[in-house]
Amino acid sequence: MQYRLFLLAVFAFNVLFISCQSGREQANGGKTPAEVSEEKLDSLMNLMTLDEKLNLIHASSSFTSGGVPRLGIPELVFSDGPHGVRHEHGRGWYALEDADDKATYLPVGICLASTWNKDMGYIYGEVLGNEAKERNKNVLLGPGINIIRSPLNGRNFEYLSEDPYLTGIMAAGYVKGLQDQGVAACPKHYAANNQETDRHNIDVIVSKRALHEIYFPAFRAVVQDGGAWSIMGAYNKINGQYTTHHEYLNNVVLKGEWGFDGVVVSDWASVKNTREALLYGTDIEMGTELLRDFNNPEYDEFYLARPAKEMIENGEIDESFVDEKVRRILRLMHRTTAMTDHGPGKRNVPEHQQIALEVAREGIVLLKNDDLLPFDKSEIKTIAVIGHNATRHFAERGGSSQVRSLYEITPLEGIQNLVGDDVEIIYAEGYEPYYDESLFADITGDAASQSRENRRDVELARTANKKLMQEAVDLASKADAVIFVGGWIHGHDGMPWGEGTYDAEARDKLNLKLIFGQEELIRQINSVNDRTAIVLMGGSNVEMSNWLPDSRAYLHAWYPGMEGGQAIAEILFGEVNPSGKLPMTFANSHEEYPSHSVGEFPGYKTVKYTEDIYVGYRYFDTRNKEVVFPFGFGLSYTTFAFSDLKLTKKDNKVVVECTVTNTGDREGAEVVQVYVHPKQPSVDRPVRELKGFEKVYLDPGASARLNIELDESAFKFYHPDELKWLLESGSYEIQVGNSSRDIKLTGNVDW
Ligand code: BGC
Repeated sequence: MQYRLFLLAVFAFNVLFISCQSGREQANGGKTPAEVSEEKLDSLMNLMTLDEKLNLIHASSSFTSGGVPRLGIPELVFSDGPHGVRHEHGRGWYALEDADDKATYLPVGICLASTWNKDMGYIYGEVLGNEAKERNKNVLLGPGINIIRSPLNGRNFEYLSEDPYLTGIMAAGYVKGLQDQGVAACPKHYAANNQETDRHNIDVIVSKRALHEIYFPAFRAVVQDGGAWSIMGAYNKINGQYTTHHEYLNNVVLKGEWGFDGVVVSDWASVKNTREALLYGTDIEMGTELLRDFNNPEYDEFYLARPAKEMIENGEIDESFVDEKVRRILRLMHRTTAMTDHGPGKRNVPEHQQIALEVAREGIVLLKNDDLLPFDKSEIKTIAVIGHNATRHFAERGGSSQVRSLYEITPLEGIQNLVGDDVEIIYAEGYEPYYDESLFADITGDAASQSRENRRDVELARTANKKLMQEAVDLASKADAVIFVGGWIHGHDGMPWGEGTYDAEARDKLNLKLIFGQEELIRQINSVNDRTAIVLMGGSNVEMSNWLPDSRAYLHAWYPGMEGGQAIAEILFGEVNPSGKLPMTFANSHEEYPSHSVGEFPGYKTVKYTEDIYVGYRYFDTRNKEVVFPFGFGLSYTTFAFSDLKLTKKDNKVVVECTVTNTGDREGAEVVQVYVHPKQPSVDRPVRELKGFEKVYLDPGASARLNIELDESAFKFYHPDELKWLLESGSYEIQVGNSSRDIKLTGNVDW
């Protein structure tokens, strides 16, 4: 029922949009503006002085780059971020106090990916595009598509997956949905930006094969499948050169091989060198002076301002390099709301809140259920809701992805709304986030992430508040059922730097141990009440071995957005059947991940990606390592059967057909995952790689016949010595399952 309602809602939403668009079609001749001709761009550029051109290629305020008023060329307006349009900055850095900038706060990127619903990326982007347009933004800084290499990366919550294919599919949809509203996507951070520690300096030492097989494909997908109009360079270096002005990344691969005709925007203060930025593909430089002095940035001192002018005037660099950037920027301006009417946007409308709710419903993952869930409210008189995260708001923290949410339904509120007066709810905080300011006196800005020694807060934070714990355990012992809501947070309240640690920008986690004494608290609650469901938030997993075996149910909710509390309640009480699947492997401790056990994480100054292409399940499955919950895993309240695999080779494609049947007694959704296993590769290759998937919604007893096409690229690998993609002849096993460790059907194809 829920799914049908959703499809109806989406349909209505699209009809509404399409009708708005047809209105616009008359106004501007089409939904996506006709591409402006290169001659027109050139003739506009020919009217500009060198100073005017240079104005376009660097910032003019914290979130604008310059325009040319004389020629009617506006400033370009940027906004973070990946899961909501960020607060207004005015021209400075800090949030404006009285701005009208409340926005829809969508579930974070990793929750979007967990839906494995191919349509969801588009719908999500469409919400952001409308809200950005309504706030007069031309470029939205998202999606965040860096590969989850280690569970400790502080920004994993913004990213999508450890798998490049899943990331690419969801992100390309997001980009299209956003850009169909006339707002440029700016997928970030290109590339191999997988740690926050030492983020402005770190040099990633990585093979070309790992770049092409793991770290590039999602960027290729947003460019070639999503049609992204801009891309954000990263802070880090790759093999000695800063990524924002990297000859191989920008000129050879992005603009060369992939044919990207959009704009490379720097990350905020990621340009480090005028000559390289001029030559190696940076089109707009943002943020530089903000890093030096938040209050008095001197825009003329940007690398691509006065220093660039000097280099051109003294003949060191040809002006044509600037022209090329300007041409790209003008092209982007014509494509977007900056210079073309795309009709009005809309913000904080019920349809957007409905999308936030749907992403949460489909993205929250049920990982364990020993006959406890769903709760039947008619059988429960008293529920104890325990945990600080049951009442905490998350929208306004985490760094640049923060959103001033119109509202945020907490899990406690969601549960209250759902059970109404039928059930008595008793709440205890159970644990509290805290810190000792004196410990942080010596920490400022990014320096905080440069020194492991300065991270004493993490150790400190592990100590429990005994009084809160006892209160909570007493309540738990009296209730018919317990819902514990805990996990990670976006930062300590009142941290000196304001953003805090754990799931936040510029910081990585130290380990995966549950913080603030939650592990002990869960154990004690489990020991007094065996009807306890554990709900954890966070951009990654936590160590589970000390509490999971004695816990009957575990739901991972990521950061589920403004409607998240509602979605959590609906899943716990069975109004929604969970269908989320993990987009990353949950192993018990960070040391087990290949970035730690084989490679390095985090690095200082340099970090070696010695694990190469063996990231996430590619490592765990190939090397036969134990995991707690595999990639692609997630439970439902119903059961599914897979049958009748048929493989057909047609032209240069393999068509994978199979039947999925809902064998349980309630409707639900299953994700059919197609992995390719090369049987005798001539080089070392992962035992399986995800190359196709489909989410299917089925009534009880119903079946669906799926048809998933794999093209040649699904079988190729990037040859480590020949440095190119190759399709090797030989036999390949097609594995169809509902996680990387639960393969239900197999068949062979030969190339
Ligand atoms: C972040 C980007 C963000 C930018 C602007 C940087 O520090 O890395 O993701 O878009 O700031 O806020």
